[in-house]
Amino acid sequence: MNAIRACVNEHLEESRKLAAHGKVASYIPELGAAPREALGISILDKHGHSVTAGDCSFLFTMQSISKVFTLILALMDRGEDDVFSKVGKEPSGDNFNSMLKLELVEPGIPFNPLINAGAIVISSLIRGADSEEKYQRILSFFRDLSGNDKLDGNTEVYRSESATAHRNRSLAYFLKDNGVLTDDVEEVLEVYFRHCAVEISCRDLARMALVLACGGTDPATGRQIIPRRYVQIAKTFMVTCGMYNASGEFAIQVGLPAKSGVSGGILTMVPGRFGIGVVGPSLNPKGNSVAGVHLLESLSREFDWSMF
Ligand code: DON
Repeated sequence: MNAIRACVNEHLEESRKLAAHGKVASYIPELGAAPREALGISILDKHGHSVTAGDCSFLFTMQSISKVFTLILALMDRGEDDVFSKVGKEPSGDNFNSMLKLELVEPGIPFNPLINAGAIVISSLIRGADSEEKYQRILSFFRDLSGNDKLDGNTEVYRSESATAHRNRSLAYFLKDNGVLTDDVEEVLEVYFRHCAVEISCRDLARMALVLACGGTDPATGRQIIPRRYVQIAKTFMVTCGMYNASGEFAIQVGLPAKSGVSGGILTMVPGRFGIGVVGPSLNPKGNSVAGVHLLESLSREFDWSMF
């Protein structure tokens, strides 16, 4: 940790310069106000040591990062066979909100649980009597993993997305028409938009990542929160699809399981060693934090973090 602490600020200030080349997401209007030049990183190990640098004090919404953990909860609720009868296991190669392959490829199930169509199906698989109970179960799972019982949803971001989500609505209605979604579409979307709008800090992300890095155990108590098999599945999806159609490049440049979100967050980990949370709201055209990806590339190269 000391070696990382000694050089992280220098890397961070270099990477921050790249923020000028990206754009803050504005298709969810409420996200458009995020600070474009912000960049922060939090790194946590299992002994409780941490390194934080840059802008780590502001909260941002999880967006697509939440999909990793709803996948895990759906697996814990339903088991592998049920989940993978409704979503595939392959990268799509398309944008995260694409509907292209839903009609072109048989069977008409989403390619994987991390694209929007797949994550909407996953939301429908979470157990609960209604959308409120499903969301509360998701939120308490996120609180458990982050060790932060104050974690909560950002209502403005939720409302902003729900009011403008024509693309996600059309994906969901298409899935309903195909019989992949059987529940009420608006109820499913409410769960999906609400879990995307859970607000988090870099440190919370690092803590959630650390649980995955430790094979599903809580680093503080040793308690197994997630069965190892489901951590393995989630980490594999993060490698193959976590950075969408930039996942191949990220695997070559950084070489770690990761998941990005359009608010600029990236959750990643060095398996067995660290959980890492990054935020940088300025995005590249593929929807990943420009400066955040650059910072992870620099640190991975410097400390030889690649798994490959
Ligand atoms: O459904 C959406 O479009 C957002 N709630 C989440 C998308 C997202 O974060 C994609 N990430 N890079």
